Amino acid sequence: MTNFSDTQPIPVIASLAQLKQGGRLLDLGCGDGRHAIHFAKHGFKVTAVDHDAGALDRLEEAAHIEDVESRITLVHKDVAGFLRQEDRWDVIILSLFLHEVPMPIGNLIIKRAQHLTEPGGWNGFAVWLDEGDFAKRLPTQPMNRFLPTYDSMHARYEHWQKALGGVALARGRPDPGSEFVFTGRIHCGLCQKL
Ligand SMILES: C[S@@+](CC[C@H](N)C(=O)[O-])C[C@H]1O[C@@H](n2cnc3c(N)ncnc32)[C@H](O)[C@@H]1O
Repeated sequence: MTNFSDTQPIPVIASLAQLKQGGRLLDLGCGDGRHAIHFAKHGFKVTAVDHDAGALDRLEEAAHIEDVESRITLVHKDVAGFLRQEDRWDVIILSLFLHEVPMPIGNLIIKRAQHLTEPGGWNGFAVWLDEGDFAKRLPTQPMNRFLPTYDSMHARYEHWQKALGGVALARGRPDPGSEFVFTGRIHCGLCQKL
């Protein structure tokens, strides 16, 4: 069982800082900003997007403590709406938020993220898989949540170069603020656009 910390970056995603030296990075559904802070500390210019104002406040406070405020732009917005813009990014992080959107929106978000990634740029993702206790007990109504299979997630990045990837057992909460902790499997990947 891998106990992913809520505060430390996911190792597969964090390791991108060893493969790429800086650039423009977009952290979608950034939450409290463990990845935004990590990459800002490694010299990236980060834009962090979340629809939860409280999460962005916590991120701002952490960025202040870590002295990386000047390298992080906070955006209080829905991810799908934000991705309508046409800016291009060297790195886009999609970490553990897609289960909070319906499947068709999740598919759209991944397609837009891929489109907005510069050639040679990177996507780092972590998604809960459609299996195990987490997926079984997660309320799926009223929406059909984005909970892919390993193969379907792999297929979404089939034309990309895979640098690192894997599946880990993990613990998670079904929704922000939920008191229940479930176990399940997470698929993490670090993929480069060809
Ligand atoms: C479980 S947290 C993960 C946070 C962070 N990516 C990480 O790995 O630590 C999920 C975050 O995604 C945000 N989120 C979920 N759906 C979103 C959407 N449609 N637009 C913007 N933010 C969203 C939530 O507000 C929450 O902060």
